Amino acid sequence: MTRLRVLAVASEMSPLVKTGGLADVVGALPAALAAEHVETRTLIPGYPEVLAALRVGDTAHAFEDLFGGPAWIHAAQLGDIDIYALVAPHLYAREGGPYAGPDGADYPDNAFRFAALGWAGAEIAQGAVRGFRPDVLHAHDWQAALAPAYLHYSGKPRPATVLTVHNIAFQGQFSKELLEALRLPPQSFTLDGVEYYGAIGFLKAGLQLSDRITTVSPSYAQEIETSEFGMGLDGLLRARADVVSGILNGVDVAEWNPAKDPRIESRYDHFSLVTRVKNRVALQRRMRLAADSEAFLLGVVSRLSWQKGHDMLLADLPALMARNIQLALIGTGDRTLEEGFLAAQAAYPGRVAVEIGYSEDMAHLIQAGVDAFLVPSRFEPCGLTQLYALRYGAVPIVSRVGGLKDTIIDANEMALQAGVATGFQFSPPVADAFGAALRRAEHLFRDKETWRKLQINGMKTDVSWRHPARRYAELYREAVAARAQ
Ligand code: ADP
Ligand code: GLC
Repeated sequence: MTRLRVLAVASEMSPLVKTGGLADVVGALPAALAAEHVETRTLIPGYPEVLAALRVGDTAHAFEDLFGGPAWIHAAQLGDIDIYALVAPHLYAREGGPYAGPDGADYPDNAFRFAALGWAGAEIAQGAVRGFRPDVLHAHDWQAALAPAYLHYSGKPRPATVLTVHNIAFQGQFSKELLEALRLPPQSFTLDGVEYYGAIGFLKAGLQLSDRITTVSPSYAQEIETSEFGMGLDGLLRARADVVSGILNGVDVAEWNPAKDPRIESRYDHFSLVTRVKNRVALQRRMRLAADSEAFLLGVVSRLSWQKGHDMLLADLPALMARNIQLALIGTGDRTLEEGFLAAQAAYPGRVAVEIGYSEDMAHLIQAGVDAFLVPSRFEPCGLTQLYALRYGAVPIVSRVGGLKDTIIDANEMALQAGVATGFQFSPPVADAFGAALRRAEHLFRDKETWRKLQINGMKTDVSWRHPARRYAELYREAVAARAQ
């Protein structure tokens, strides 16, 4: 099979910089693609934490002026991963996160910060870096979505382009006054270009102008073509339905492996599931939950936002606390939700444990220690935490949307009879249905044999990147072949 070269363009990449699942995907996909004869190099912004972690090599390309200052592309390596870091101090050398300052407000010049990423991606795609001319440019989310647009309008030979939507709720919309400053030609401001409800839409532009569109689960691919989930872009997606596909995310099975995980108290696999209890005990101790071996221990690791539906959990809490249930939660985000969970912790000491913050160690220990893992999202493009939960024998309780629908097999009578169930689904995503699923799960939890079967089924599920990587490789080859015609 011929080798294919791909330039991935993204605004975050694990383990260098991460605010969510996008980073996990961008970080793990290159290694999986290598097995499919696809060589990936990944362009990411040179945020301070990225430059601090990389041993940056030679300058591969220099820009005299990239949207307001000089910039450089540096080639670097992180383990086996080839990285291009876009060094642009005027855009990225800041305190705060990748998108927002320390006060939580988006940077006012995000249009330029991510136009620069797209521009640099398009330049590499057209041969700016000696020795690497990709066959495919693969852009992730709105932050990278101008890359295919710049290529489209360049009028020069270009590689095939693929855009992956990880979350259609984030679209990158900016004033039309910026058109020229963003180096977009006047003729691009039309319905079949970058124009979006009178503004410039980065994601819209990418969806309109990429050769192929993917999203991160088959169900979400269908959902975003409906007005309920499409967030204004469903019409465009219906019109381009023939190039839209859904490829389920995998997980990094080396990083998330309970048999080898250095971050947890006691390692285990599905043969030695009995030793998993040591993690449960350690989690209860670490989070100051009562050392109760009978309690049904629920876990959450999540951004706290409307999307994730944890307000439903807060609403159900009084009912849950009337039974022998415990909750261990780590998350950050929405202030009201953070305060709500902290108040619940104060109201139910030893039964509700809340850590507001971000910790990989705690995320792993929760997966290894809880009985059931909750993902009650209102919408969920794919979701990774329910996949980690499957790996770790924490039985997922999820809403029946997007990737959650595609990855968890509900423990209904039929699935139990057939011995294939891996978790619990509920629908619609409202507090009552969530509460009913929790009751159903608690009931089965008291039946130790059945519960163990659910855990083992989950742990045996293949959630690796092997199959998804093959799908991406096929898609790249199709896109390249279609351009050659
Ligand atoms: P999303 O990208 O929408 O936030 P995903 O389920 O795809 O949802 O990915 C979330 C990722 O972020 C997972 O790797 C999860 O473990 C991690 N994560 C979320 N919140 C926290 C937290 N507070 N501490 C540690 N890891 C977290
Ligand atoms: C987004 C989605 C999440 C998905 C992740 C990685 O953040 O919200 O569902 O798993 O991207 O694709």
